[in-house]
Amino acid sequence: MTEQDFIPNTYAKEISSGKTSWKSPSNIALVKYWGKKEGQIPANPSISFTLDNCATTTNLNFSKLAKPIEDYSFDISLEGKVKEDFKPKIATFFKRIEKYLPFLKEYHFTIETSNSFPHSSGIASSASGMSALALCLMDIERQLNPLMSEGYFTQKASFLARLGSGSAARSIQGPIVQWGNHNDTEGSSDLIGIKYPYKVHEVFENYCDTILLVDKGQKQVSSTVGHDLMHNHPFANQRFDQAHENLTSLISIFASGDLNEFIKIVESEALTLHAMMMTSMPYFILMKPNTLEIINKIWAFREQSKTHVCFTLDAGANVHVLYPESEKSIIDQFIKNELVAYCENGQYICDQIGFGAKKA
Ligand code: DP6
Repeated sequence: MTEQDFIPNTYAKEISSGKTSWKSPSNIALVKYWGKKEGQIPANPSISFTLDNCATTTNLNFSKLAKPIEDYSFDISLEGKVKEDFKPKIATFFKRIEKYLPFLKEYHFTIETSNSFPHSSGIASSASGMSALALCLMDIERQLNPLMSEGYFTQKASFLARLGSGSAARSIQGPIVQWGNHNDTEGSSDLIGIKYPYKVHEVFENYCDTILLVDKGQKQVSSTVGHDLMHNHPFANQRFDQAHENLTSLISIFASGDLNEFIKIVESEALTLHAMMMTSMPYFILMKPNTLEIINKIWAFREQSKTHVCFTLDAGANVHVLYPESEKSIIDQFIKNELVAYCENGQYICDQIGFGAKKA
């Protein structure tokens, strides 16, 4: 597969106006993407659970302009409010994908977007937001080319989403998606996320993720800046090698359902991500004191209860608490009794593994 595969020929139809709507979920990485090359190419492969409840719904209306314009013509709103400050990010996205969607300069777009999770929750909306928009745009391309195959639609949606935000490439499908070349994973690609192709033990079905909102404030360092700091990072190469090794280990772990080994990889990945931040130059810390309190509580409870609760982190202070569905009642109790006290205003979100984006 190459970029060339996603450049369309002529379109079969002409459409003057229309609309489409997609709901796309967030995802939580088990092996983390941290560091990238030119063109949104990941420095290492990553894998994630697609989430179910945390999602963005985007409605896209489009109408043909009298003549194509130099710039892009669009309005964007979030939860009904016009968001001028979102425009530069969308314009950058359009610029990156224009080669693959030549109709972009021919239409005016009205983008209405809303999130299922509270806006300033510290939950990254770039994966769900960019994938929802990529799917809406692919839907227009499919209206222009009705014979498009389902496979092409899904692959190109992931390809475009990646150009909006790397992790968004993993939000189109579910329940487990891998993105980035990995020698031991057939079909893996730096260009798109693929549905994890090997055996997955039933213990991972309906796997739960309770997201503890430790800090809902604006992050001090954006992911984009963080990725950039992996250039010339003293431990970058060892880290990228480790991600490949962890993905290889996960193949047998997913097949056997060995949760103790699963936990080792997932928690090590989370702490390694934050270790990379702490050893960047300039260095930074995104965890908060309560992040560490929660981690210690999880370790103590796991030891004492012999359950398989574990944590992972994204690029922020919030903690994702992961556990199998069979242990849900005991772990939900533990979360309410011991962890919610560390959340900002006691807020948390109950989620679980999901099956990917849907037409809304
Ligand atoms: C820590 O996908 O947000 O969540 O490609 O610059 O938009 P951009 O970065 P982004 O990075 C996500 C980083 C992460 C790990 C992960 O999701 O794999």
